Amino acid sequence: MSGWTRKDLVGIVDLSAAEIGTVLDTAKSLQEISTRSIKKVPTLRGRTIANLFFEPSTRTRISFELAEKRLSADILNITGSTSSTAKGELLKDTIRNIESLKVDMVVIRHSCTGAPHRLAEALNVSVVNAGDGINEHPTQALLDMFTIREKKGRLKGLKVLFVGDILHSRVARSNIWGLTKMGASVVLCGPKTLLPPRIEELGVTVTTNLREAVKDADVINLLRIQKERQDQSFFPSIREYAIAYQINSEILKKAKPDVLIMHPGPVNRGIELSSEVADGPYSVILDQVTNGLAIRMAVLYLLSGAKSIESKKE
Ligand code: CP
Repeated sequence: MSGWTRKDLVGIVDLSAAEIGTVLDTAKSLQEISTRSIKKVPTLRGRTIANLFFEPSTRTRISFELAEKRLSADILNITGSTSSTAKGELLKDTIRNIESLKVDMVVIRHSCTGAPHRLAEALNVSVVNAGDGINEHPTQALLDMFTIREKKGRLKGLKVLFVGDILHSRVARSNIWGLTKMGASVVLCGPKTLLPPRIEELGVTVTTNLREAVKDADVINLLRIQKERQDQSFFPSIREYAIAYQINSEILKKAKPDVLIMHPGPVNRGIELSSEVADGPYSVILDQVTNGLAIRMAVLYLLSGAKSIESKKE
C-alpha cells in the first residue's frame, strides 16, 4: 500500500518529503509499462478523466492524455477555445456541468493562480494542477526531481541551479518547494528584475552572476523568458539577455564535467540555451519528457485510490 491519502494534487508546497518520495517511487515502478509490447494496464478502466487546458500546452497535455490511456481511463479533452468559457461561462459552471457527467478526476491548466485549488474545494472528485498562472506546476517539478534522482542516484546534497525568468516561473516555484524538502540546495540566477523579492526566505540562494553560479552546480535547469506573462520590459533586449544568461558551450567549460542540463520546455533556442547544448551530451531534456509520463501515471494512480496497478502482468 502507498499510504497516499490526498484527494488532489494542487501544489508541491502541500506535500511532505515522504509524499514526494511515494510519487517518485510509484513512477519508478510504473516506468516498465511503457516498455511492454502492449503498453496498457486496466488500473483506471471505467474511470473518466476530464483534461481542461485553458492555456496552451504541448508536453503536459499529451503526457497526461497518454498516461490516462496507459491506465485505460476514458478521457474528455476540453481546451480554452473549445469550451463555453470562451463564450463567457464561469469556470465554476463549466466544471459543475462536467461534474454532472460523473467524471472521476479533473486535470486543469489555467492562467489564473489558484484556479485548481478553488476547483479542488468545490468538487468531490480529484483535481490535478497541470500549471496555474505563475504559482505551481507540481507534476513538472516531480518529473524534474525524478530525472535528477534517476541520473544522479539521489537528490539530497545536490546543488540545483535555475537560470532565467524566475519571477514568472511556476516550474521554479514547484521545484523550490520540492528540492528543498528533499535535501537539495537551490540557487536562482537571472537579472535582478526577474528574481522575485524576498525569495531567499524560501531557503534558496540568489545570484546575478551566471559565470560563478555554474561552477559548482550538479544540475542547471533553464527557464524560458515568458513574454506572454510580461506586461513590461524586464531587460533591455533579448540579445542582451542572451549575452549575460544563455547557457552555451563556452559557459559549460566552467561547469562540472557531469553537470545535467534540464529545461521544462518549450525551449527558446538561441535565447536561454544554445542548440548545441540543448542537443548535446549533458542535456536530459527529452528524458524529462519520457519521465513525465511515468510521473503522471503515478499521480493519477495514487489519486484514484486504486489498490494495485494490475492483477498480473500481461
Ligand atoms: N513543461 C510544460 O509545461 O510544457 P507545456 O507548456 O508544453 O505543457
